[in-house]
Amino acid sequence: MTTATPATPEPANGARTGVGVDVGGTGIKAGLVDLERGELVGDRLVSDTPQPATPDAIAETIREMVDELGTDGPVGVALPSVIHEGVARIAHNIDTSWIGCDVVDLFDRHLPGRRVVMLNDADAAGLTEVQFGAAAGLDGLVILLTFGTGIGSALLFDGRLIPNTEFGHLMVEDIAGRGFDETEHLASASVRARDELSFAEWAPHVSNVLRNIEDLLWPRAFVLGGGVSEAADEWFPLLENRTPVRAAVRLNDAGIIGAATYAAADAGVLDLGEVLSRHRG
Ligand code: BGC
Repeated sequence: MTTATPATPEPANGARTGVGVDVGGTGIKAGLVDLERGELVGDRLVSDTPQPATPDAIAETIREMVDELGTDGPVGVALPSVIHEGVARIAHNIDTSWIGCDVVDLFDRHLPGRRVVMLNDADAAGLTEVQFGAAAGLDGLVILLTFGTGIGSALLFDGRLIPNTEFGHLMVEDIAGRGFDETEHLASASVRARDELSFAEWAPHVSNVLRNIEDLLWPRAFVLGGGVSEAADEWFPLLENRTPVRAAVRLNDAGIIGAATYAAADAGVLDLGEVLSRHRG
């Protein structure tokens, strides 16, 4: 089922727009993005993620959503996977048949004639935040983490994205004494919902994840995103880390915006300067 929720009504005068899609474990979001302002324009479409979430099922849902948006131009798709040289390499919260999937070939079949590029979902959010949000203008190492079904990460150094980091799968010791586990099994937003944790109960688990990362990499700031950052006022003050923490600005739309931006840059419609130089290799 696809539902539409209104976002910003009008693009800026003469603004270039692009299509962005964000594939999550439970929902797929798509929208038209004003590439100058980094904001959604028109309706944000939301569909249930098909189950099983195979490449063909997801690509077909994306085709329907892109048709509904009804515009030409390149499409960017953010996926919870490592996208390495055009091939999806891992699959968490999506069907394991994604592993080894050639995404160019996939979309050639489902959206023939349309230029479609794919990138990791947290990397898409990182591109958004470094251009338009909480990481803009910050030199040095900034680490963005998204809290949703899993934990996604984007590493930003001097405003450039270093793609495909997977800190959601970093093994850390559980502060509740249950041994070592992946960070996303200890502190994702879905774990908070599943275990019905209050912010006071959940925040120490997030702090533990941040502590492990800051001890290894010494970033100058963390940017924390995902829907849960809407309530940043309620739980950021509970975090006990030496690294400053900022809330992501675009929250739930960061993946859509970053995917559209990436597609426009890849197609040469938009110049991202240094931001993507490493990403493109
Ligand atoms: C995936 C990442 C993704 C993150 C957030 C993790 O399980 O491995 O690629 O960025 O979830 O969706």
